[in-house]
Amino acid sequence: MTASTENRGQFGSKIGFILSAAGSAVGLGNIWKFPGKAYSCGGGAFLVIYILMVVFIGTTVMLGEFVLGRKTQKNAIGAIRELNSKFAWVGGLGVLTGFIILCYYCQVGGWTMKYIVGYIIESSTIYADPMGYFLNMLGANGFPLQGAIIFPLIFLFLTAFIISRGVAEGIEKMSKILMPLLFILLIGLMIRSCTLPGADAGVMYMLHFDPSTIDANAFLVALGQAFFSLSLGMGVMITYASYLSKDDNLITNTGIICFLDTCVALFAGFMIIPAVFATGIDPGMGGGFAFATLAGVFMSIPGGTIFGILFYFLLFFAAVTSSTSILEGTVAFLVEEKGMERKKTVVMVSVVLFIIGVFYTLSQAYMDLKGIWISREGISYPIFGDFMEYLTDRLLLPLGALTTTVFAGWIWGTDNAIKEATSDGKYKFALAPLWAFLLRIVAPIAIIIIIIAGMFLGMSIS
Ligand code: PFF
Repeated sequence: MTASTENRGQFGSKIGFILSAAGSAVGLGNIWKFPGKAYSCGGGAFLVIYILMVVFIGTTVMLGEFVLGRKTQKNAIGAIRELNSKFAWVGGLGVLTGFIILCYYCQVGGWTMKYIVGYIIESSTIYADPMGYFLNMLGANGFPLQGAIIFPLIFLFLTAFIISRGVAEGIEKMSKILMPLLFILLIGLMIRSCTLPGADAGVMYMLHFDPSTIDANAFLVALGQAFFSLSLGMGVMITYASYLSKDDNLITNTGIICFLDTCVALFAGFMIIPAVFATGIDPGMGGGFAFATLAGVFMSIPGGTIFGILFYFLLFFAAVTSSTSILEGTVAFLVEEKGMERKKTVVMVSVVLFIIGVFYTLSQAYMDLKGIWISREGISYPIFGDFMEYLTDRLLLPLGALTTTVFAGWIWGTDNAIKEATSDGKYKFALAPLWAFLLRIVAPIAIIIIIIAGMFLGMSIS
């Protein structure tokens, strides 16, 4: 969901802010991306690395974004400019990142809608061949009109509509009901998935800590995933915190949001991976996590189709509350910094990102093909999928997070940052020295190492 950058109001309630920030954080990253990464990066060992990344780097960067936002009471770009105008380009970096993410985010958001409709009108077709249904949506048997054009277009239209009309308030109200519902449904489905015949191998896979699966790539993937999942590195959390007052406790808010977001990712992991083992469906690189494998779970419970509809509806909702937060950043930059007209900007940005996004879905059906271009029926398509995620998760988001930590830790200084974090001493912060150390030293060094290592490790994103 979005916080309007046009009027500088404040969040009406503490829960309003937590829901907005958690609404941005909880999305496709948790339920569609995370299980896939956990699956291909070693299961249990990856979970440990991921949790360490969230605890030590994710919370550090999030609190860093929060202090910058609340102190300056400005959107991400304004906040950065106010602190040091030499770094204004960082705002542009965040916008570029958001734009690239949205290209594919809207496609996958569209897939969730396709599945809502799919479970309503043709659940037996999904149950008969879950992977076939998924691949068909991606274009394995002809041009994917629904998967690449119609549903992503509706999803994007909704995102753009919300942004241009600023109906964020309605979304906020809906979030109060739907987000807890998503949480409960995830727990229920996770329990069912873990108790499917044959699922124990998947549960073991997720719980077994096998150090031999840990390599540099796992760290890279975990860090990029943590930033993506927590909505860090693009200034979204700077903007949200700019609507907070000194009464709000940034430290506990950071803890709550990181905790909720990580719980959702873990629930999703334990919902999907055991189902992968139980159903024998290998979602592979086509991103069938959260789509193909869950059919095995819905098939096995009474009224499963209803749960299927509900699940994809909630996933769609979680995706919209994230996509709006990203688009808002891009649009706010062009409107406030470049003086462009808001509605026109929304339309222009949406059209361009939609056209690029179509290639994402097209490239998914051919993930087994290596190379940058694939040819089909005489037309060449770029393999955008890998490239987009590579660029955002491995380079741009870490770079954005790096600038935040350097800003808060070095340019503005940890004394100021701690003062802001504690609301001028109003709130206790026993871990302040640790946070200062993480912010100045550990996080920047870790991020730099990971960015550089990522360049040498090539383009594999999972
Ligand atoms: N955190 C969102 C998710 O996990 O789906 C995606 C996202 C939203 C990334 C906002 C970055 C961002 F600034």
